[in-house]
Amino acid sequence: MRYKAIIFDLDGVICSTDEYHYQAWKKMADKIGVYFDREINNRLRGVSRMESLEIILENGEKTYSEEEKEQLAEQKNEYYKELLQNMTSEDLSSEVKDTLDALRAKGLKLAIGSSSKNTKFILKQIGLEGYFDKISDGTNIVNSKPDPEVFLKAAQFLGLSPRECMVVEDAEAGIKAADRGGFESAGLGEAAKCSQVTFPMDKFSDLLSVV
Ligand code: BG6
Ligand code: MG
Repeated sequence: MRYKAIIFDLDGVICSTDEYHYQAWKKMADKIGVYFDREINNRLRGVSRMESLEIILENGEKTYSEEEKEQLAEQKNEYYKELLQNMTSEDLSSEVKDTLDALRAKGLKLAIGSSSKNTKFILKQIGLEGYFDKISDGTNIVNSKPDPEVFLKAAQFLGLSPRECMVVEDAEAGIKAADRGGFESAGLGEAAKCSQVTFPMDKFSDLLSVV
């Protein structure tokens, strides 16, 4: 087999929390009167909380102090966590769960590589607490995607080299991170259109024909 492990992005790949990120940022942006739409939101995929805020504030007129920015990011995270509270195992699609189980049955190790600091809470909500072999997330990195750090850490936790792992992403920043780290990648949505993607996919279960 080509790969020994697969490293999955979380938001927009394992579950649809990318939509909740959008809704929470939209609520925050509306509150401070800054224009924000789904196109701008696509630039936030894979990008850290504070860097996402900077992108949103590009459309604002006001200059915010570091302390005010911390408060805005915190406010968005509160809105986001309210939305996460309602998540259950029903928010994990059978397509994703069945594909993960089939990949594991092939002998592959499965890991998470996400910029989110809410990763472990989300996995618990959707019934995947303890499911993945290793988790690399926003709590163990300094640089977020397109820097490869989160994936390199995941490979290190697995005890494997980047060439032995494949990254699955929905974000352009994530595909770039994989490429810079020396990983092959499979892309969904926006990520499927990225020039550096190894395997563009239409749907998650396409992974079964890629590995
Ligand atoms: C990534 C999302 O997975 O996590 C980004 O694609 C998000 O949109 C980032 O900004 C950080 O998430 P969190 O939960 O730590 O604010
Ligand atoms: Mg994503």
